[in-house]
Amino acid sequence: MIAASALCKFFGSGDTQVKALRDVSLTIAENEFVAIMGSSGSGKSTLMNILGCLDTPSSGHYKLAGASVSELDDEQLSAMRNQHIGFIFQSFHLLPRLSAAENVALPLRYTDTPTDEALQRAERLLQQVGLGHRMHHKPAEMSGGQRQRVAIARALINNPKVIFADEPTGNLDSKTSVEIMQLLTELHRNGNTVVMVTHEDDIAAYAQRVIKMRDGQILEDSACSV
Ligand SMILES: Nc1ncnc2c1ncn2[C@@H]1O[C@H](COP(=O)(O)OP(=O)(O)O)[C@@H](O)[C@H]1O
Ligand SMILES: [Mg+2]
Repeated sequence: MIAASALCKFFGSGDTQVKALRDVSLTIAENEFVAIMGSSGSGKSTLMNILGCLDTPSSGHYKLAGASVSELDDEQLSAMRNQHIGFIFQSFHLLPRLSAAENVALPLRYTDTPTDEALQRAERLLQQVGLGHRMHHKPAEMSGGQRQRVAIARALINNPKVIFADEPTGNLDSKTSVEIMQLLTELHRNGNTVVMVTHEDDIAAYAQRVIKMRDGQILEDSACSV
């Protein structure tokens, strides 16, 4: 599913240049559940953004679902994201003026799906994540856990091949975090590939494989002992 070789990412230039990724190579198979760990600034988000086609590497090669991503232009990258990738972020990234259902349906605006069909699909997904009773509420009227469920439903609307989650429980209390992790575990069980960034051991324990990063490099890559 994912094949990255010798990825480097540099920000800035000269004396102030930051080497956020240094020669990172990894492969992730279909239906793996992977956690990427490491302290703040170790390059987790940078790696996730490249794997998720939100950003391109300074050098190195990246293939996703058979396509050479590192050779795509911006338009092709966004098509790749729309077709294959679902994102979940720490801060949910919902649009405040839209209802839950409208937020979930949003990615379909960039496809030729008719609006009523898009909303019906959104409502089905909201039911699946346990929010059937909150479809027409705005994000401000929901708890953090409910907002993250909306974001998960939105990530699923395109039937993505891979779900990327950057600190999905970073803004949630521990009880709500468990609920969100159970939901991600269920997605994995249903056949999704899940790649998640976290710096919490108990959250990483839900994954099957843990990749530890330090200073822009992979320090350790091991199966999870659970
Ligand atoms: N857009 C950017 N511009 C400049 N430096 C950046 C940018 N994004 C990340 N960095 C730097 O790259 C390094 C890795 O950052 P990041 O991938 O966000 O780490 P993590 O997610 O592990 O906390 C850090 O030193 C960070 O300051
Ligand atoms: Mg980060």
